[in-house]
Amino acid sequence: MTNNAKHQVHHLSTAFIFIFGALGGLLFGFDTGIISGASPLIESTFHLSIAQTSFVTSSVLIGSSIGALSIGTLSDKYGRRKMLLISALLFIAGSLLSAFATGFVSMAIARIILGLAVGGASGLTPSYLAELATTEHRGSISGMFQLMTTAGILLAYVSNIGFLHHNLLGWADWRWMLGSALIPAILLLFGSLLLPESPRYLVQNGNITKARAVLHVLRAKTNVDPDQELTNIEKIAAQDKNQGGIRELFKVAKPSVFVAVGIMLLQQLVGINSVIYYLPQVFIKGFNFPDNKAIWISVGIGVVNFLTTILATIIMDKFNRKTFLLFGSVVMALSLIIISIMSFTMSIKDAAVPTMLFIALYIFGFAISWGPIAWILIGEIFPLNVRGIGNSIGSAANWIGNFLVTQFFLSLLNLCHDKIGGPFLVFAAFAILSIFFVIFCVPETRGKSLEQIELELRKKTKVK
Ligand code: BGC
Repeated sequence: MTNNAKHQVHHLSTAFIFIFGALGGLLFGFDTGIISGASPLIESTFHLSIAQTSFVTSSVLIGSSIGALSIGTLSDKYGRRKMLLISALLFIAGSLLSAFATGFVSMAIARIILGLAVGGASGLTPSYLAELATTEHRGSISGMFQLMTTAGILLAYVSNIGFLHHNLLGWADWRWMLGSALIPAILLLFGSLLLPESPRYLVQNGNITKARAVLHVLRAKTNVDPDQELTNIEKIAAQDKNQGGIRELFKVAKPSVFVAVGIMLLQQLVGINSVIYYLPQVFIKGFNFPDNKAIWISVGIGVVNFLTTILATIIMDKFNRKTFLLFGSVVMALSLIIISIMSFTMSIKDAAVPTMLFIALYIFGFAISWGPIAWILIGEIFPLNVRGIGNSIGSAANWIGNFLVTQFFLSLLNLCHDKIGGPFLVFAAFAILSIFFVIFCVPETRGKSLEQIELELRKKTKVK
């Protein structure tokens, strides 16, 4: 093993590697969460039309779909680590540009750049973390991505409240809100300069010495034998003779593409972001809540979401992934149906508090299951030579689903005279559909090494 290769990972603790490796999630949560508080302020500074304001919000989602789709091929070709570095640079550029934007055009460009970074990080991080983790702890370690995402959302809400109406040093409040993303972005840049390349990517590209060095550092405090693990990875890499690419993806991993796209679309179509992005507005419009109280509702959601995700991360490897998913689907379906019934049958005054409680239960149902597991699974179910591109497609499906929900939710709410029962019944239908999808389509991955999961897939598709 060369000293150089060893040196690169020598002084890093595994906690540092996993926390910094998952930082892209924090930026993902922050940059999508921050806009709910910042957009009305930006609208009044730049005198934007409604269409322009919506574009400032949705442009991130457009950028993310493009970022997610492009990152996979690039990460299979150039490595996970270099792409993490590029995402960090895009996060820095987008955060600076949005904080210093001078009008609609520069703001829209900044948000698209941020979207590219967010999509890139979401298409990259789950497989990067899965490839670094041991089989035994892979659920919890890959779950770090979602933990960071929920931390980012909560930080965004707190930053919204903290900076609102405080034009520090003569700079408008929203510039501080958007600019505060620079801190995690710089940390990610710093991290990506130090983090190790994925040992599985290194083996795939013939760099065995370096892969061994990385595995020895990563497994130093575990009971896993890094040399045995390396041998298993080499065996699989020898089977994956063909370089990745979209044709290879559909040849060897069609069932995985179906599962990844299905799971990601359903993760969005159960309506989580109608709550994450719009709940204060729902309470202002539907329940006559005063504006200054409604913002605290966001913080409440953020806290429930974050705390439940901590719990999920801790217990993720104790139960099957499918058990979690089914539990979450049932909790979400029931709470959505109860909220809908209340919204059609009770007075606004009587329904407000129970609605809030059932929304908390719905968030719990999502955060304990579909929130983390959708991202964990897309990092696990693809063969090594197409893992990057497979992850990309799953992540792009997530962004497209997100775009659909956020575009149509407010119109649907309007159509139902501001009664959330309307859109929530649609989400409940998808939650019920998700139960069947899990039972019949999703493979169980807990307790299997990535190499074992790949062998099972190859047996199924009969591609050697
Ligand atoms: C979803 C995001 C959502 C977040 C909420 C993620 O898993 O992909 O769209 O905003 O969870 O915690």
